[in-house]
Amino acid sequence: MKPSRQSVQVWDPIVRLTHWGVAALVLWDLYEDSGGPLHRNLGYAAACLVLVRIAWGMVGSGAGNFREWLPRGSAVVAYVKAAVAGHPPRYLGHNPLGALMMLVLWILILALAATGWMSRLDMFWGEDWPKDLHGVLAYLLLALVGVHVAAAILMSRLHKENLILSMVTGKKPAAPDQGKGSAGDDKSTGPSGPPVITDSPPASPGRRP
Ligand code: HEM
Ligand code: HEM
Repeated sequence: MKPSRQSVQVWDPIVRLTHWGVAALVLWDLYEDSGGPLHRNLGYAAACLVLVRIAWGMVGSGAGNFREWLPRGSAVVAYVKAAVAGHPPRYLGHNPLGALMMLVLWILILALAATGWMSRLDMFWGEDWPKDLHGVLAYLLLALVGVHVAAAILMSRLHKENLILSMVTGKKPAAPDQGKGSAGDDKSTGPSGPPVITDSPPASPGRRP
């Protein structure tokens, strides 16, 4: 008989609310791209939510805190190697490559607010580059959001869990079904363990390898 997968609370309400708030505002802003007052307010609101989330990453506790998931170069390289070899480890928090993507998404949103603001300043009157840069950053963001959503679906399938639902409920399965040598293989720290990594090489509690 398969052991049932207990769930563990990973994402707190601030992480979830800022995520879906930013996602909704950005998607709306990409659609309503007139540059008018609604567009500008949606963009500033998205940037404010990103700043709230960044502040929470510094002072909050749990898996949303940057101590738990800020990616290190070596961890990203190791993760990419494992993914290329077909067995990316499962993480309870963000995996290192996903975490890198999240930082890039936040930076792009803040850069969009900055270039949008700059494009309307008297200082840049008659200059096209702030507007052009704004457009390029916007389409880069759109492309990366596509990759981000595709990766969330792909990793959900690979590890037999629903990452999107987890971003809604905040809960993740504590220990996935063990597959023999499959991509889903991991050695869970168990439901009472810290919401960090559930894979080999074993990590000391609360730390990344
Ligand atoms: C999440 C944030 C934002 C996103 C995703 C975004 C996205 C876009 C996109 C897709 C366009 C059309 C670009 C084109 O057709 O080449 C655009 C245009 C524009 N955006 Fe934003 N934007 C954001 C924030 C802002 C902010 C905060 C401001 C200003 C305060 C702003 C001001 C403008 C202006 C003035 C235009 C029109 C540029 C033109 O006349 O060609 N945007 N934006
Ligand atoms: C403009 C749209 C979006 C942006 C800018 C965005 C950005 C982000 C960011 C920054 C995080 C990290 C959350 C945190 O730690 O606070 C994240 C996580 C996540 N996002 Fe999005 N997101 C967007 C849309 C979506 C959509 C449409 C989906 C799914 C349908 C999605 C699924 C997820 C999932 C599953 C996670 C958690 C990944 C994990 O478990 O490591 N996102 N996203």
